[in-house]
Amino acid sequence: MTTSPETIHALDIATHMELRQFLSDARSRIDAKLDRLLPRESVEPVKLHAAIRWSVFAGGKRFRPLLTLAVGETFGIVEDKLLPTACALELIHTYSLIHDDLPSMDNDDLRRGRATCHIQFDEATAILAGDALQTLAFKIVSEDKTLSAEKRLRLIADISSAAGTPQGMVAGQALDLDAESRNVSAEELEQIHRLKTAALIITSARCGAIIADVTESDLEAVTEYAAQLGLLFQITDDLLDITATAEAIGKTPGKDRRSEKATYPHLHGIDAARDLALTVHARARAAVNQIERSTQHLSAIADYILNRTA
Ligand code: IPE
Ligand code: IPE
Ligand code: MG
Ligand code: MG
Ligand code: MG
Repeated sequence: MTTSPETIHALDIATHMELRQFLSDARSRIDAKLDRLLPRESVEPVKLHAAIRWSVFAGGKRFRPLLTLAVGETFGIVEDKLLPTACALELIHTYSLIHDDLPSMDNDDLRRGRATCHIQFDEATAILAGDALQTLAFKIVSEDKTLSAEKRLRLIADISSAAGTPQGMVAGQALDLDAESRNVSAEELEQIHRLKTAALIITSARCGAIIADVTESDLEAVTEYAAQLGLLFQITDDLLDITATAEAIGKTPGKDRRSEKATYPHLHGIDAARDLALTVHARARAAVNQIERSTQHLSAIADYILNRTA
């Protein structure tokens, strides 16, 4: 069958509608699993557990765990084997948001549409909630009986280097703060984005592939796909800070400019940042095409990040 542009468009629409359904169904299962994994609010210390639940169940997009599920699903793995690791990644991400919002970092009072953890509770509780989420994440992976001990170790090694330093999210956060109020080069800016945001997104995708025991070349393609997706995610985050409303993004817009953050729109202008988003999106889709599986969800996820409004 020859595919005209119209049929391609129709196929895309079908895929995107199907992806939307997949994302919303999977989100509910992720939330239910997170609820089972976290200490109850009634357990002492209650303030700490209330703070953890305040931040985790505030309605995040769950993009990182969804990516783990989508990659695992692409390689035919049942969700039971993916969910614990996927949830662990969401806990690390939520910890990074709680700490990112602290007065000593980005000093934000709105997150996921509600007061940030340190505003709702207090600063010490927010720091401890982040600490606890991080260690709980590694406990969940280390105790996941659905996976071999060797695989759990591999996942922990991947996640810990992506979340830490010198090649992970914590390193990126340090560079991001250091870059405030000064000129940075395009290379420096890309390195900040790669570490503070892409690193965790890359490991989220890689974990799905590692659990699925993929070949080395598939793992490389997944890694490249997620690296581009991670950059795309931060470029769109930087653009939304300028163009979106607080209602849409659940955080205070305009903060980057007020804090003189190093961002793509700040360095290159909004139009060039949008062009770069298109380039990076095309690279993500090209990487997906290296995988000889049915990869519609992965391609549609790249489209979703390019066009996201929240
Ligand atoms: C915000 O992440 C932090 C960045 C890396 C840009 P998300 O936009 O995924 O935040 P939630 O999880 O949906 O709240
Ligand atoms: C945050 O980047 C990245 C991490 C939390 C690791 P931003 O500081 O731009 O994220 P938002 O805009 O506060 O969500
Ligand atoms: Mg920040
Ligand atoms: Mg921030
Ligand atoms: Mg931001």
